Amino acid sequence: MTHKATLPSPGSSATQSNSAHFLADAIVDHCSHEKASFHTPGHKGRPAGGGAFAQAQEIFTFDVTELPLTDELSCPSAVLFELEKRIAALWHARHSLLSVNGASGALIAAVLACTPSKQKLLIPRNCHRSIIQALVLSGLEPIWYEPNWSSCWGFWTDVNPASFSAALFEHGQQLAAAVVVSPTYAGDTSNIEQLSNLCRQASVPLIVDEAHGAHMASTGTRTGLAAGADLVVHSLHKTLGALTQTAILHIGTGAQIETGAVRSALNLLLTSSPSYLLLTSIDETIRQMEADGSLSLQTKISELNLQLLKLLAPARGVETYVSAGGSDPAHIVLRIKGLPAKDLFLQLCQKGIYPEAVLGSGVLLLLGQGSTACDIEFLAAVLEQLESPVARTYWPTILPPPPAAPQILTPRQAAFEPSEMLPVAAAIGRIAADCFAPCPPGTPVLVPGQAIPPEILSFSCPPALRVVIESPIQGEN
Ligand SMILES: Cc1ncc(COP(=O)(O)O)c(C=O)c1O
Repeated sequence: MTHKATLPSPGSSATQSNSAHFLADAIVDHCSHEKASFHTPGHKGRPAGGGAFAQAQEIFTFDVTELPLTDELSCPSAVLFELEKRIAALWHARHSLLSVNGASGALIAAVLACTPSKQKLLIPRNCHRSIIQALVLSGLEPIWYEPNWSSCWGFWTDVNPASFSAALFEHGQQLAAAVVVSPTYAGDTSNIEQLSNLCRQASVPLIVDEAHGAHMASTGTRTGLAAGADLVVHSLHKTLGALTQTAILHIGTGAQIETGAVRSALNLLLTSSPSYLLLTSIDETIRQMEADGSLSLQTKISELNLQLLKLLAPARGVETYVSAGGSDPAHIVLRIKGLPAKDLFLQLCQKGIYPEAVLGSGVLLLLGQGSTACDIEFLAAVLEQLESPVARTYWPTILPPPPAAPQILTPRQAAFEPSEMLPVAAAIGRIAADCFAPCPPGTPVLVPGQAIPPEILSFSCPPALRVVIESPIQGEN
């Protein structure tokens, strides 16, 4: 008889017990006890195909399911519940819930948890497209506010408290929540304490999309949980070392939202077969942070950032973005005089350096838990060698996108109306049925329910757009 593959087994026990503190240990315990599997997954720990992926045997061994030792994500009570408690202790949250549906799923759940009996959601122009998905699912109407814009670099930056506050108090009673993105894709952080105080005065919950800031030590006025936000979303795969698709939805200590309501919202979006590879990677990342201390990752990333800036100093023509407010060291946006950002991106890729994205007139480089001093030295050496074709000494001003197009229907109404596909030129003036938010960074250019503006032609959008049928624009309603 062929048994299931078992792990080399760090300190595993052959008897089933509920004493495992870490998920990896619970899985090792389970594997050492199980002689034959008659449950999902169908690979039974024995990979098919024989190719390179099948050689990664341990991936399959850790790909288990809900079993007596491995707990259940939708209503955790054992090892996963302990993991949630450890995470909450690390970030000083009231509760921290696990997402295997990315920061996207956690953000949608955050909005849904705040929705009952409200009509509107206060959102920034640089929100992630998952917020638009949340509008479709919740039926809420978007109320837009404009963060600051860098016309020198061509991207949204931190939140301007005045424009935030004006929209907040104009719509206060009708708002389910207000959303802030901090750090932004370029790394700008906002004064969350100030925004959170405004939200408290208006009795509106504050959701902070901190997907790009899980590595920031949870202190001061610019991190969501320390600064009094109600719900904070951390991606664990952008700057931390967990597997892609992992995230946390934290509930702040002062939040007026019941934990059960947040878990129910998260469960609405949850597969009934959450991946234990993802969950184990969360547990291991947290275990590392507990061992290293909460400041260590931020310190490491700050040191790497400084190292790069020092090495770049002599590199002719290299310019890095410096935020006017607070800036996060894991995000480095740079450009080279005379070299268009797309060309810089391609030249780096040709040398084996793959940046995160082209962003405005620069290229975004992300540091993370796995970054090393060698990566930085290699990058600096390559930048020194790049030739820029034109000796230009200035950058053209980049204007902000035009104001949000008129919202004729709510995103939910538009998404569920009968619709048709039209070539972009023919779709102008019609009501959008889909969101268009090119990735990265996934910020919306067009939202369901908006009148499609002529400016859409200036974006490299798909050749055809989905529009609501027989809904020519009335101008008002
Ligand atoms: C600001 C922001 N929020 C949320 C997300 C969604 O994160 P995830 O890919 O983990 O779903 C992203 C992804 O790029 C993002 O940039």
